Amino acid sequence: MTISFSESLNWYEKTQNIIPLASQTFSKSKMALPFKAAPLFIKYGKGAQVTDLDNNIYTDYINGLLCVSLGYQDQEVDDAIKAQLLSGISFSLPHTLEAEVAKLLVDLVPCAEMVRFAKNGSDVTSAAVRLARAYTGREHIAVCGYHGWQDWYIGSTTRDMGVPEATKKLTHGFTYNDISSLEALIENHPDELAAVIMEPLNIAPPEDGFLEKVRELCSRNGIVLVFDEIITGFRYHLGGAQSYFGVTPDLATFGKGMANGMPLSAIVGRKDIMLLMNEIFFSGTFGGETLSLAAAKATIEKMKKVEFSQYIWTLGNYLVEQYQKYCSEFTMFELKGLAPWTFLNITNNRVNSADTIKSWLIQELCKRGVLFIGTHNLSYAHSFESIDQLIMHYQELFTQLNDLDKQGDLAAHLDGKQIENVFKVR
Ligand SMILES: Cc1ncc(COP(=O)(O)O)c(C=O)c1O
Repeated sequence: MTISFSESLNWYEKTQNIIPLASQTFSKSKMALPFKAAPLFIKYGKGAQVTDLDNNIYTDYINGLLCVSLGYQDQEVDDAIKAQLLSGISFSLPHTLEAEVAKLLVDLVPCAEMVRFAKNGSDVTSAAVRLARAYTGREHIAVCGYHGWQDWYIGSTTRDMGVPEATKKLTHGFTYNDISSLEALIENHPDELAAVIMEPLNIAPPEDGFLEKVRELCSRNGIVLVFDEIITGFRYHLGGAQSYFGVTPDLATFGKGMANGMPLSAIVGRKDIMLLMNEIFFSGTFGGETLSLAAAKATIEKMKKVEFSQYIWTLGNYLVEQYQKYCSEFTMFELKGLAPWTFLNITNNRVNSADTIKSWLIQELCKRGVLFIGTHNLSYAHSFESIDQLIMHYQELFTQLNDLDKQGDLAAHLDGKQIENVFKVR
């Protein structure tokens, strides 16, 4: 089976001289998709499908890295953006849409008494950290998961080049579902931790009582608990994972899918902490940009109307069931995570490296019209039929892969260059 990426490669050649990596995002670059064996640019999207520069069409399981929650070109959201465009985009004073979207969040999210907006997830996780430091008068931060590109977080990863040593010393990782790792941090930094910031779940669901114990430890030790709901928000429950699991943090951050692809993020939380926004500095040109707010209003209203999270759960559960039925015999892979956001993990039951196996799988899925980088980023536009097709492709490809892996040199079967790991946090 062959597929051409010649236009993608032409544009890559032109672009790489003027844009490092020819992409704004590691996960949308040749580091995440095998170079020459996958597309490098997309020109069109509708529903759950996208078209690359060479007119290859894919069912998209990346979905703009989870920011496309309802599907590409959702009619109601796009109509709201177009209607707002007729009145203007960014103004010299606040717009009432800010209060309207804030009210939607306050009504939905348990911890949300007040709200501020920004553009990227990194903006609001960083705002949460600054607020927590201001509120507690402490400087150290405990992290668990991925929280964006800013110094305070990236300093705790292996890709920490350019982050001052003094900053790195203030951030400490702990292990999900291992409460003793957080207890140890608190013990080693008595009265020094300002915040615990964590994804409420990602690759593993919380074990019994884990989130409750984190909540209790934070309350007992005067630490601000922040749930980073940039992925979990709306997906697991319209009130976020905090509603789904019944554990309420002090602050929470939202982004990604809340405006169906328009750039908007939000920090929400307890009024007494959020009011410190008046004292710290969190202030920018585009927080009140109205096209994204109009998109968010339409997206959240549609999510409520169509029971978005229930659909994502049902579709995700169907994927899990079909996977167990048709693919569980292939021990090279395992499906991790809860139904609304599952990960296709590569186990140690293999000869070749995980990166080689993943590169081959992405390459072969592209040939079958599926765009994928390891997770099932479901949107409201995905159908049960698209899941059936995906499982059929998995079954066929896993069977081939079993043989190819045993033969040894899987790299010889790559049509392009192998993917590279940016860093591993999940
Ligand atoms: C859980 C989580 N937090 C924060 C971020 C950072 O968001 P952004 O890339 O919009 O800055 C991401 C992005 O992937 C994320 O998944």
